[in-house]
Amino acid sequence: MGRVGDGKIQHIMNLFDVYPLYNVTPVKANDVFVTDKEGVEYLDLYGGHGVISVGHGHPHYVVKLKEQLETLGFYSNAIHNPLQVALAEKLGQVSGCTEYSLFLCNSGAEANENALKLASFHTEKSRVISFKNSFHGRTSAAVAATDNPKINAPINQQQVVTFLELNDANAVENELKKGDVCAVIIEGIQGVGGLDEGTTSFFKALESLCEKYGVILILDEIQSGYGRSGKFFAFQHHNIKPDIITTAKGMGNGFPIGGVLIEPKLKASYGMLGTTFGGNHLACAAAIAVL
Ligand SMILES: Cc1ncc(COP(=O)(O)O)c(C=O)c1O
Repeated sequence: MGRVGDGKIQHIMNLFDVYPLYNVTPVKANDVFVTDKEGVEYLDLYGGHGVISVGHGHPHYVVKLKEQLETLGFYSNAIHNPLQVALAEKLGQVSGCTEYSLFLCNSGAEANENALKLASFHTEKSRVISFKNSFHGRTSAAVAATDNPKINAPINQQQVVTFLELNDANAVENELKKGDVCAVIIEGIQGVGGLDEGTTSFFKALESLCEKYGVILILDEIQSGYGRSGKFFAFQHHNIKPDIITTAKGMGNGFPIGGVLIEPKLKASYGMLGTTFGGNHLACAAAIAVL
């Protein structure tokens, strides 16, 4: 609320001030370059937690989004959407993960939230194993599995999560033995935490321990996926097969979309997951154009 010249009070809405911002205001972008309002051009190595997939304003991406917007921009998930089917087929082909099913949502946090929910539905258990320095997003279960007490509100702390050291397979087995764990969640390569990653023997141990104790292994590829490590998903460097893979950031090249890739042993039933606009026509057109 501020005062204007004639003494009247002017009501304005401010932004909720949660981001410590860099002093840069990008106004246009092309390929890997961003220009700010002072006309300074930057080489964009960020673009949103890592380099975006096809760069700014890629001609194919722009044409496909424009075409889709002019045809059918969105509808809710109450109708058939052939673009979701096409996206799933293409993602399966490009990633090599053809045997998984795809659930679409709007962000990375949502992808992990749904992955953790699926693991809990499937196992009928609720404790989660996560790792020191992990980051999995800011929704309820996802933030509870994030190793940063500052961003966990009391409501999130109701979720029981045990944080272990990366690469300590014995510690993981000691927890899984207790029989109350639904999921182990791990980033292919830690992003926000500082680029630490599990060794191949650790990833393989996680795969076999999860199999042995009936626990769901969730690979969070939201930051490490979409070709950023040289393979489509970073876990593919370790030759393992997770039960669930989550993806987002690179998927829409900036357009909000997230995906949960689900192994056939996890069975779908009507209503168990849902979202109004997750995977809407425009989001799918963006994601297909990226692939
Ligand atoms: C590994 C990882 N998981 C989940 C998320 C959350 O994604 P979003 O910000 O799209 O909700 C992030 C975001 O930084 C991330 O790096």
